[in-house]
Amino acid sequence: ADTLGSAAAGQGRYFGTAVAASHLGESDYAATLDREFSSVTPENEMKWDATEPSRGSFTFTSADRIVDHAQSQGMDVRGHTLVWHSQLPSWVSPLGAQDLRTAMNAHINGLMGHYKGEIHSWDVVNEAFQDGGSGARRSSPFQDKLGDGFIEEAFRTARAADPAAKLCYNDYNTDGVNAKSNAVYDMVKDFKSRGVPIDCVGFQSHFNSNSPVPSDYRHNLQRFADLGVDVQITELDIEGSGSAQAADYTKVVEACLAVSRCTGMTVWGVTDKYSWRSGGTPLLFDGDYNAKPAYGAVLSAF
Ligand code: XIL
Repeated sequence: ADTLGSAAAGQGRYFGTAVAASHLGESDYAATLDREFSSVTPENEMKWDATEPSRGSFTFTSADRIVDHAQSQGMDVRGHTLVWHSQLPSWVSPLGAQDLRTAMNAHINGLMGHYKGEIHSWDVVNEAFQDGGSGARRSSPFQDKLGDGFIEEAFRTARAADPAAKLCYNDYNTDGVNAKSNAVYDMVKDFKSRGVPIDCVGFQSHFNSNSPVPSDYRHNLQRFADLGVDVQITELDIEGSGSAQAADYTKVVEACLAVSRCTGMTVWGVTDKYSWRSGGTPLLFDGDYNAKPAYGAVLSAF
């Protein structure tokens, strides 16, 4: 295979990228996207601040541009993200508990209703756990006012809103076995034992010298898969360059391929030029859309 998407498809996986609507008009960007990728995740356009900037007023213009583009190319769409402490419009945090619960469910219903039947997987809840050794939930308006049960409630609402979408919990620093991933593991295990609807766990996989590709990555993906959920690599980027970066990308592809329920991976951008790691070079194409050594490594790892 000579593209990322076709190479991954040869192993029954998808290969996706984060996309920004504002770049779709750039011909090299669109050409690289369309040639290489079989799935897209809107980088910011489906977040709460972008889609419901004031209560009850939904705006889907930018997200629709991405979904329309993806559909015209036969690509899947990952929905990102419904309930997250970040990129929240300012009207959400002051709400009292009962009102916040109503607003959270209305937000999920508004997004999932608009895209009903069009989204492969939704990141229903993003980044609900703290870093470090506590295994505790992260403070957020949802956690602080609704308690641990907000996650379960969000998943139940999401299942009813679009029964065809896979429902994922997504987080970072959960790629290896550690206190944070153990806490997510315990939550998923509890959900499966009680019939709370969850289909997949997303591992963001933002790697750099402080947070390298973990040596127990495959083992960690497998233990989640063994709970009866799919696993996906959702926001992959790896700081570095040249052969060292290429070798790290190889490790990631190999880890996913070794886990039959690892259904696909998404890199967090098409080109280094637009990476959220400003000044960094963590992606597969350089700023001129030339394939980097990491690109060749990914292709040959499939
Ligand atoms: C980032 C985007 O890439 C940036 O453009 C934006 O300014 C901030 O958010 N975890 C996530 C993603 O789940 O939504 C974040 O995306 C990166 C970290």
